[in-house]
Amino acid sequence: MQSALGTTVRARFPALAAADEVYLDSASTTQKPISVISAVDRYHTSQTANAGRGTYTWANQITRELGRIRARTAAFIGADADEVIFTAGATAALNAVALAWGLRNLEDGDEILFHPRDHASNVYPWHRLAGTLARFGVRITLVPYSANALGEVDIADILAKISPRTRLITVSHLHHTFGALSTLEELRGRLDESVLLCFDCSQSAGHIPVDVRVLGADFAVLSAHKMFGSPGTGVLYCRRRVHDMLDPFLPGGQSGVSLSQGELHTTGMPDLLEGGTPNIPGILALGAALDFIDDIGLQAIASHNRELTLRLVAGLRTVAGVRFLPGPAAAPCDVGYGIVSFTLDGATASDIGFALSAHGFLVRTGAHCIPGTPDDEESVRVSTHIYNTAEEIDRFVNRLEMLAEEIGGT
Ligand SMILES: Cc1ncc(COP(=O)(O)O)c(C=O)c1O
Repeated sequence: MQSALGTTVRARFPALAAADEVYLDSASTTQKPISVISAVDRYHTSQTANAGRGTYTWANQITRELGRIRARTAAFIGADADEVIFTAGATAALNAVALAWGLRNLEDGDEILFHPRDHASNVYPWHRLAGTLARFGVRITLVPYSANALGEVDIADILAKISPRTRLITVSHLHHTFGALSTLEELRGRLDESVLLCFDCSQSAGHIPVDVRVLGADFAVLSAHKMFGSPGTGVLYCRRRVHDMLDPFLPGGQSGVSLSQGELHTTGMPDLLEGGTPNIPGILALGAALDFIDDIGLQAIASHNRELTLRLVAGLRTVAGVRFLPGPAAAPCDVGYGIVSFTLDGATASDIGFALSAHGFLVRTGAHCIPGTPDDEESVRVSTHIYNTAEEIDRFVNRLEMLAEEIGGT
């Protein structure tokens, strides 16, 4: 039986209730439920104060609330509160790992394993780190590993590339274009304890349960605006065992850093990696987003997205000229996490995007922030979430079919 969630939940998203369009770009950013919008609005309209500074009631209240949301976020990913850092997004969080951990710990000859077709936010920070270290005479190597036909990381390739100098393996938990899940489960027990694991959970958080302990993550990053929260807010998980390896990321006001005799001294996590006034409305929005996710239930969200993904893949298979990128369409069993990417013979991705948009179907087209994608490998990405319906998927497939026929007929 088809899940009716999309229809029932929709009324809680004002931007969708007011629109005729079919929004299929949640991997880019999700729509916001009214509770999240209200949390941001409330902060700006009532008892606005800074957090962690004043001693008057408004300030104390907001400080307490941010503390509560930190603990709430930690519980959401299976961590402790002092392992959770609020950042300006997933990109900022990955850069924080590169700068706070990488600059301090990496030595000449060390290696980082990464996937060159990951999101640029999980590729460029490591390149910049290597460039910065090189200027100080420390040469590290970025070792690329590959993905398989399903879009999952190729474990055999990773195993072949691990060396005694491997210090970090960074991975997309759920790939933002391929829609494939990689947990590195097969590496468990086969890696030296000293090798750190960094998971980009920007696309998995809010879609499926993310437990950093189960993943064995040392670092994990989340993007709040992809899980019903506001842009400019993210989460960085730092496992306790790495805390002593970190330098301050944004030394400044309230960052757990003090100056004595010309040297910076740190007071510990989580302040160590947070500097300046936090994005208070963004963090409040994250708190409301987590409440929303809890209310719907992660299992219900996961199974709704799976149903929509499978329906979409089945529909697209009937459209002449569709070619899938690696991902759920190639999977031997029924998996799907709300992301499917494809090309259509005879048209560029951006032409398809324009044509679909003219009929009210909002999808992402292009390189999807995969570094170095040639123009002829650009694709259409369809991504779903809790507010989408089976009927929308069917309409989308029908529209694409008409488009394919028009292209074939010209
Ligand atoms: C896999 C992945 N990582 C990182 C990011 C960047 O997230 P943010 O916008 O929070 O910086 C994105 C956003 O598209 C993403 O899909």
